[in-house]
Amino acid sequence: MRSFLNVQDLGDLKEALREAAEIKADRYKYDTLGKNKTLLMVFFNNSLRTRLSTQKAAMNLGMNVIVLDVNAGAWKLETERGVIMDGDKSEHLLEAIPVMGCYCDVIGIRSFAGLSDREYDYAETVYHQFEKYSGKPVFAMETATVHPLQAFADLITIQEHSQEKQRPKVVLTWAPHPKALPQAVPNSFAQWMMAADVDFVITHPEGYELDPRFTAGARIEYDQRKAFEGADFIYAKNWSCPGVTRPEDYGKVLSRDMSWTVDAEHMSWTNDARFMHCLPVRRGMIVTDDVIEAPTSLVIPEAANREISATVVLKRILQAL
Ligand code: CP
Repeated sequence: MRSFLNVQDLGDLKEALREAAEIKADRYKYDTLGKNKTLLMVFFNNSLRTRLSTQKAAMNLGMNVIVLDVNAGAWKLETERGVIMDGDKSEHLLEAIPVMGCYCDVIGIRSFAGLSDREYDYAETVYHQFEKYSGKPVFAMETATVHPLQAFADLITIQEHSQEKQRPKVVLTWAPHPKALPQAVPNSFAQWMMAADVDFVITHPEGYELDPRFTAGARIEYDQRKAFEGADFIYAKNWSCPGVTRPEDYGKVLSRDMSWTVDAEHMSWTNDARFMHCLPVRRGMIVTDDVIEAPTSLVIPEAANREISATVVLKRILQAL
């Protein structure tokens, strides 16, 4: 594997899940695979889980790890071509990327959407520049439009908690947030759920329709209560307007409707559903304290499975070097 951005990059999903179970049973099984290989993790944005879990995954495989926080100590980078660099940006990404490629064997990239130019964000410009100019295999640690390591960990978690149930009902619900957030997590979650053997429903206020390239074939239900009925898993997440129906609204907060916050009453509409969220989460906005603290909450197991999803992905990249 030379690039990891979409569910299709893993090939057979059942085989990937089997590999995840194997790694979980013995996470050090391949601890010499990465000997004398270096992972460079490049962060353009903050992180807790991705940083720790991906570094741990690399260590499980015996790799060396370098972490670069672009906004803390590195030269400020220009990402656009054709600009006159007379401002505060000292280095262009198009030189920085091949230089980074000199010092490592694999590169992980975190680079959020700017949420002002839909075309630029959805072209995954920064990720593809790394793909093209680094000369090294690259993988997404949440990019402008996708977060596949999270979605893979979420799917592992759902499989582990499905209790043999065939085609569990999984609901992705929008919930309010004070700031405009990217669509990367819901995009990837939808893409991975559509590839998995689950009954998948998306619910959100009108205007928040996700890009069809991730949701094609999914059931969209604007009535949150109807969507929750019979659900086995509730996956809450905020996202800003994807600009599908009104491109001029791309990246805007269209609603702060607190009736969408997942509370005990919402959960009572479900089939004793498990609660999921990728974290970090705003309590009182996305979910109430009692729901996230309940024994049915899976937010910590999901975070724990980030180590497993990252180990599988890095293992496959190393095996293809
Ligand atoms: N879920 C997730 O990616 O968390 P971080 O932003 O802390 O890495």
